[in-house]
Amino acid sequence: MSFSEYKLYIEEGDVAILYINPFKMFAIDIKRMIPDKNGRLVENIFQTMYGSLKVNSLIGKKFGSKILLSRGWAYILHPTSELWTTLLPHRTQILYTPDISMVLFQLDLFPGKVVIESGTGSGSVTHSLARTISPNGHVYTFEFHESRQQKAVEEFALHKLSNVVTVTLRNVCEQGFGEEMNNKADAVFLDLPSPWEAVKHAVKCFKKKGGRIASFSPCIEQVQKVCLELKALGFVDIITMECHQRELTVSEKNLSAMSLDWRETPKPVKTALCIPAQEQIPGHTGFLTFATLPPDFSRSASGVVQQPVKITEMEIENVVLDENFHTEPVSMISMSCSDLSGECSDRLLS
Ligand SMILES: C[S@@+](CC[C@H](N)C(=O)[O-])C[C@H]1O[C@@H](n2cnc3c(N)ncnc32)[C@H](O)[C@@H]1O
Repeated sequence: MSFSEYKLYIEEGDVAILYINPFKMFAIDIKRMIPDKNGRLVENIFQTMYGSLKVNSLIGKKFGSKILLSRGWAYILHPTSELWTTLLPHRTQILYTPDISMVLFQLDLFPGKVVIESGTGSGSVTHSLARTISPNGHVYTFEFHESRQQKAVEEFALHKLSNVVTVTLRNVCEQGFGEEMNNKADAVFLDLPSPWEAVKHAVKCFKKKGGRIASFSPCIEQVQKVCLELKALGFVDIITMECHQRELTVSEKNLSAMSLDWRETPKPVKTALCIPAQEQIPGHTGFLTFATLPPDFSRSASGVVQQPVKITEMEIENVVLDENFHTEPVSMISMSCSDLSGECSDRLLS
C-alpha cells in the first residue's frame, strides 16, 4: 500500500482507513501484534463506539469492503491524501482540501514535476503534492522544527512515500534551500510565517525555464509583503485569491405570485424550489498568492523583468476599508475581482 498508488488487498504493514461515517474515521496501522503498556506483544484490537475490531481479520480483505465490528459495521478504505488531511495528527495548522486543490492546479503539477515545499508542518499538503507528482517526480520539503521534521520522515516512510518525498531539516528563511536545489524545481510552495524572506532563495531553485510559486498566508499584511517581494524579484502574473466553499440548500418556499390584475383577491401563492443565498461565507483559512517566474533569458541581470507586470486579484471578500486604514500597498485590498494590467498595477503596487 502506498498513498500514491492503489492496490486491491490489505496486507500487513499497510495503513487502512476505518470509515464509520463522514465524521468518524480512523487511520489504522495493519499490524497483527502491538506492544502493550509493559512492552509485551499482544493481539492488535482496535476499539470503536460500535465495538472492537480484530485488526488481524482485515489482512487479505479487499479495500472498500464492509466489515463487522463487535456491535456494528464499518467500511475499510484505501488511504488517500484527502482522507489523510481529515484524519492526520495535527502538529501545526494545516491546509485543507479546497486550498490544496487550488495549489495543485495553480502550480500546474502532474506526474514527473519537481516541487519544493516549506514548511512541512503536519504533512497535509505534502501528501497531496507527493501523489500528484508520483511516480517519477519529487517533493523536497523543508522544516526547521526538529521533532516535526523527524515525525514527517517516519510518516512518509510508513505511507510508502519516501521514494518521492525528501524531508530536510533547515531554516529556509535564513539558510535558503541549499545549493543542491539550484535549478531543480518546477514549482515552489511556501506556508511560512514570513514567506517573503524565503522568496529570494526560492528564485535560485527554479529551473532555467522558470516556474510557478504559491504562498499561503492567513493575514493580508503577509500577502502584501510577499507580493512586493515577488514583484521586486521579477515574478509576473501575481494573483491572490481565497477559496470559499458554499453549501447550497435547496428548499421549498411559498412565494406570492405577481399578478397585474388589481381585481384579483386574494393573491395566489405559489410553491417554488429555492436556493437561498448565503450572505456570510464562514471559514477564512488563508490567502493564496500565486505567481510565475519567467524563463531566465527574459529576466534582467537584477532579476527584475523589464515588461510591465500584470496583477490580477480575485475574490478577497469581507474586507472593509475605512479612511483611517492605510497600509502599503492599498490596492491589494481595495481591488476586488478585478484585473489590472500594465502601468496601472505598477502604479498601484508602488
Ligand atoms: C503552518 S505549518 C505548515 C503546515 C503544512 N502546510 C500542512 O498543511 O501540514 C508551518 C511550518 O513551517 C515551519 N517553519 C516556520 N518557519 C520556517 C523556516 N524559516 N524554515 C523552515 N520551516 C519553517 C514551522 O515549524 C511549521 O511546521
